[in-house]
Amino acid sequence: MLIAGNWKMNTDLPTARQLARAVISSVGKTRNVLVAVCPPLTNIDAVFSELHGSSVQLGAQNMLAGEFGAYTGEVSAPMLRAAGCRYVILGHSERRQYFHETNQIVNQKIQSAVASKLIPIVCVGESLEVREAGKAQDLVTEQLRTALDDVPIHSDVELVIAYEPVWAIGTGRTATPDQAQEMHAAIRAILVDLYGSETGRKVDILYGGSMNPGNAAELLSREDVGGGLIGGASLKAEEFAAIVHAAENAV
Ligand code: 13P
Repeated sequence: MLIAGNWKMNTDLPTARQLARAVISSVGKTRNVLVAVCPPLTNIDAVFSELHGSSVQLGAQNMLAGEFGAYTGEVSAPMLRAAGCRYVILGHSERRQYFHETNQIVNQKIQSAVASKLIPIVCVGESLEVREAGKAQDLVTEQLRTALDDVPIHSDVELVIAYEPVWAIGTGRTATPDQAQEMHAAIRAILVDLYGSETGRKVDILYGGSMNPGNAAELLSREDVGGGLIGGASLKAEEFAAIVHAAENAV
């Protein structure tokens, strides 16, 4: 199980430091649950220092494929690794929507992250229109198979998937536990097909989209829901910690 907080474009230096400290103290020592926070890039360094000595890990929200070079405004996997990141969120629907990231671009980024021993949190998920047309599973399958094309994984801990239905992100509308489990099971089948049952059965598949302390326990109790990618609720340390504690009880 992994509970990861995606702070998106929300903190400045003092609030990021404060939030990191509050997360560490509210989460406390965790049993069987990994915890990570993904601050904006300008706060990575400060949050890394705050997290030192705690069990909370650091992640980034995006990166460019490649190592170094003339790509103004971008950062790469080796840079994020050097800055103390263990995870990087890739293919988030906001990046796909506002920055035109295609499945192919996401694939290149994942390959680059894995080559640098960063663990990608690969986001997939359908829009409301696609769900209502009955095509959600087809779209997620396409997103995942293209994203993971030629991505060599040797163990389950090198990869995390996040199912984030676009209609549930920041809307207060969550997928039902049945909807989540149904999609997670489809994702699980693809992972087993790609990586074999030993590895594919153990990769964490997070749910994301308006997860909060009120709905986390039920979602996390489902067989293939292996954690959460938390947006809004990750900005409030107590709410984030309550989700972590729900995950501990679900393990
Ligand atoms: P919310 O939890 O705010 O719906 O955001 C989910 C998300 O996009 C996490 O990456």
